[in-house]
Amino acid sequence: MSSDDAFLATLRDGLVTGSAEETRACAAGLAGILPAECVLALHGTLGVGKTTFVQGLAEGFGVTGHVTSPTFTIYTIHEGSRRQLVHLDAYRLDSSAQLEALLLEEFLRSPYCLAVEWPEKVEDWIPADAWHLDLAIAGEDRHTLRLR
Ligand SMILES: Nc1ncnc2c1ncn2[C@@H]1O[C@H](COP(=O)(O)OP(=O)(O)OP(=O)(O)O)[C@@H](O)[C@H]1O
Ligand SMILES: [Mg+2]
Repeated sequence: MSSDDAFLATLRDGLVTGSAEETRACAAGLAGILPAECVLALHGTLGVGKTTFVQGLAEGFGVTGHVTSPTFTIYTIHEGSRRQLVHLDAYRLDSSAQLEALLLEEFLRSPYCLAVEWPEKVEDWIPADAWHLDLAIAGEDRHTLRLR
C-alpha cells in the first residue's frame, strides 16, 4: 500500500484533529492526492472547520493569498502554483439554478479543485464523482474529518 493509499484509508476511517493547524495540515496532505479535476463537498454545520480545511488545501496547492470565507461573494478563485482552487460557499444560495446563473464552470481551468461549503444547498449540481468529506466537532479544539 502506498503512503497516499494509507493516508486515504485513515481519512476514510475518520480522524480527529486537535487544532485548526492540524486540520489544515491534513487538508494539505489531501491536496496532493486529489484528482486533477475534482469537486470536494465539505459537509458539516456552522463552525466545524470547512473554511479551515480549504485554507489547508490552498497551502497544498501553492496558493499564496489568504483564504477567507467567501460567503458574501459566493465563490473565490485562487490560482495556486500547483492547481487552481475554487472556493464556493453555497450558504446563501437557495437552489442550483442560482448557482448555474453564476457561470462558475466557465472559470474552471484544469488542474483544479472546486471546494464546496454547504453542498446540500446545491445538491443536484454536485457531480456524481465528487469527493465528500464529513466534518464535525468532537470537543474543544477537537474536530473530526471523515472521507465518504
Ligand atoms: N481541530 C480543529 N479543526 C478545525 N478548526 C478548528 C479546530 N479547533 C478549533 N478550530 C476553530 O474552529 C473554527 C472553524 O471555523 P471555520 O470558519 O473553518 O468553520 P466553517 O465550517 O467554515 O464555518 P461556516 O459554516 O460558518 O462557514 C476556526 O475558528 C478554527 O480555528
Ligand atoms: Mg466557512
